[in-house]
Formats: sequence, C-alpha cells, structure tokens
Amino acid sequence: MVKTKRRYVCQACGSLSHRWQGQCADCAEWNTLVEDAPASVFSLKHDLSAGGRAIAFERLDAPSEPLVRLPSGLAEFDRALGGGLVPGSAILMGGDPGIGKSTLLLQSAGAVAKRGASVVYVSGEEAAGQVRMRAGRLGLADAPIKLAAATGVRDILTTLGQGAPPALLVIDSIQTMHSDTIEGAPGTVSQVRGCAFELIRYAKENGVALVLVGHVTKDGSIAGPRVLEHMVDVVMSFEGERSHQYRILRALKNRFGAIDEIGVFAMAGAGLEEVANPSLLFLSGREEPLAGSAVFPALEGTRPVLVEIQALIVRLQSGATPRRAVVGWDSGRLAMLLAVLESRCGLNFSSAEVYLNVAGGYRLSDPAADLAVAAALVSALADKPLGTHAIWFGEVSLAGEIRPVSHAGLRLREAAKLGFGTGYGPADAEPGSSGLNYRGLRRLANLVDRVMADA
Ligand code: TYD
Ligand code: MG
Repeated sequence: MVKTKRRYVCQACGSLSHRWQGQCADCAEWNTLVEDAPASVFSLKHDLSAGGRAIAFERLDAPSEPLVRLPSGLAEFDRALGGGLVPGSAILMGGDPGIGKSTLLLQSAGAVAKRGASVVYVSGEEAAGQVRMRAGRLGLADAPIKLAAATGVRDILTTLGQGAPPALLVIDSIQTMHSDTIEGAPGTVSQVRGCAFELIRYAKENGVALVLVGHVTKDGSIAGPRVLEHMVDVVMSFEGERSHQYRILRALKNRFGAIDEIGVFAMAGAGLEEVANPSLLFLSGREEPLAGSAVFPALEGTRPVLVEIQALIVRLQSGATPRRAVVGWDSGRLAMLLAVLESRCGLNFSSAEVYLNVAGGYRLSDPAADLAVAAALVSALADKPLGTHAIWFGEVSLAGEIRPVSHAGLRLREAAKLGFGTGYGPADAEPGSSGLNYRGLRRLANLVDRVMADA
C-alpha cells in the first residue's frame, strides 16, 4: 500500500518540512516554503527482493580506460581541477556574484576553442552582445566558441542533439535555467535540480565536460539546493574579496583529484591573469616593524603562501561588551585561542576589543595558523612589534601546547627563499636544513616570553 504525505521544500536552502510554516526552521528566511511533489511512503509489506534484473559484479582490478583530461587552457584552473577537465563529468563553479566566474569560464572556453576543440557557451544571464563585448576585452573575439543566450533546457538539449556533442559545455548559470517539464520559476529548488539532472545526463551520455555556474548565497552555500553538490563530480569555489585583486580557485569536492590544490588569479583590466608564484602576494608592504603583525607560511596543497596576520586590541573604558571581529579566519578558532591565552598564559583580553585580519583578502584554513595568530595577538596586546624577518607556524592545543604540523621543512624553505631569517614553530618539528634560524616553541607561554624579550 502506498500512502502519500505532503511535504514542503524551502526555496532558499532546500530543507524539507512536513508542515507549512511562514519561516524556514533551518535558514530563517520568510515565505520560502513551497509544497513539493508528493513523496511516496512505502509500507513494510512492499517487497523488492524479486522481479528485478540481475546485476553483474566486476573486479576492482579489471582493466579500465585511462582518464584522458581536457586541458582547460588555464594552468591555474587545471591545477585546481587536479589536471584538467574530465570528459563526461560535471563541474559546479560556485562563487559570489561579480567575483569573476563568467570571466574565468569565458577565458577557459576561448582557450579550449582556440586549440581546436568544440565549445558551447550558454549564457542565461547576459545577452549575447554583452558576452561578445567581454570576449573582445579578453582578446578572445576570434575564438571559435559557439555562443548562445538561452534559458530553456529543452531548447539547449534539442539544439545540441542535432550535431556532434561539444568537448566543453558551459552553462552560466544553472539558476537561470528552466525546464518546461517542471513547475516553478527558474532558480527554485525543483527547477535547479531538474535542469541540472538533464544537463548532467546529457554530458555523461555524450562525454562532454560540463561546467555549471552557481551563485552563492550570503551564508556561503551555493544558492538553491545543496543536492546540486551531490549530483556533480566536482564542486569548485571561486573566492576573494571583491575589493582586492586576487582570486583563489579551490575544489571543495573532486571525484577525480585531490582537493588541496588551489589556483591563484589576479583580476586585471584584460581579465584574469594567472599567478604562478603566489607566495608573496598576501604580504603587505612591510618595512617598519609594527605591533600586531605576524607572518604565517600557509600551505595550499603543495604550495606555500606567506600571509600577514594583523591583530588590533582596543582597551575599553566602559563595561560594554567588547567586540571580536575576524576577517579571513574562523571566529570560533579565535575565541578558542583567546581563551587559551587567558587561561594558560595569564593574559587578559576580557575588557578589550579584538580585531583580526588576514591581509590581502586571503582566507586561511590551515590549522598551523594558530601560532602566528597568537603571536599577532600577544604583540598587539603588549604593543611590541615582532621581528620583521620572522615567520610563525604551529597548531595550539587547548592545554596551550604547540603541536607539530605538516610540511615544516617546506614552509621554512619558502620563507628562507623570500628573505626571512627566523622561523618559530613547534619544538617537535623536523625543520630540516632550510637556511633559516629555527626556534622550536613547546608551549604558548614560551611565545609570550619570546615576544616580550624580543621587543
Ligand atoms: P564576472 O565574470 O561577470 O563575475 P561573475 O560571473 O562571477 O558574476 O566578473 C565581473 C567583475 O570582473 C566585474 O566587476 C569587473 C571585473 N572585470 C575586470 O576587472 N576585468 C575584466 O577584464 C573583466 C572581464 C571583468
Ligand atoms: Mg556571471
């Protein structure tokens, strides 16, 4: 016996609810719940153990076709993808509006087309004239891209079905696509899901590398349903501060490669320029030593990137609740580090406002940043500059110990290459020979002593 039950889907975050509410319980948006197609609830009596076809099992070591990748035309894009586009796969390219997704994909599409592969670029957001104008600015006016401004998935797939499938298909963006077999306006959960499903099926059946552009909501998830992330093979995120020049392309999920490599670009007048050696990008001009600034050798995949961490401490006179603001790092991690500094080192931040900033619009995810953040905080609190030629790295435990992190040698060698003289890190690390003066620290209290002594 099959029973149907009503269910409602939030059009903003995709969460399910079994009764209608004015406000979504998950994302707190108002009036976003819409009734979804009825879900069937099977009773226990429903028996699936007979009547199906037998499946043939395969051996893991059976010969398989080698993965041939299609170079994207941009070395940094290839690097983030783990070696290039995979035919018959789907990539979701997420990022804030205006960050440069269309620019990146048009540049890649142009480069692929110029090498002789066939490329279809479907823009649902901009008119063909606008895309043509951008291509002109990017120096790609003569690239043999097949360009269309369309939003109907049926029209797109009908047209593509009439000729040989392209090597690369770009859909900009999935939120503007519309399928006439599904109810609802473009951008709703069911439309996004349905359109993506049809496009991905086409790509898989025809060996097409498909890139779907997806906008990102305020809270950082790709707008529309999270289910899109499960449907595609690769989820890429194009990040950066719009007011800064640098953009970082990273894979959040990749069925064909590692997810720790990044691609670095700079947005310039003629489009995105590739930055092959990003290690110095995120250091601000550092001539005079300033209190509250520490340099951290971050690691992105196999590439070291030196970033400056800045802290500012403002003592409050009144009893108002002090603010804690963080740009480029995790605020929970900052709260933890402040608590460790207070309880293990006897420092007092409780009546002070704490601001932390990672220079250059960079976002740190490397846990080894703890020690550099602590150094910046202690230096700001004591108003004593750290040596300009020092770098700091290590993970801090709740007990206030400095724990070893991966690739100490790589971090130190890069810093030495860029003219740094001293490296502070975990006492247990094996720094190898880097040419840097390495000082191992065992506890956070040693760092505090160091900062006070150096001044
Ligand atoms: P765009 O690719 O349209 O962003 P998205 O598709 O992610 O919304 O990029 C828009 C921004 O890039 C725009 O604000 C201007 C800037 N830009 C340049 O600085 N130089 C260029 O050559 C191009 C094409 C864009
Ligand atoms: Mg765009």
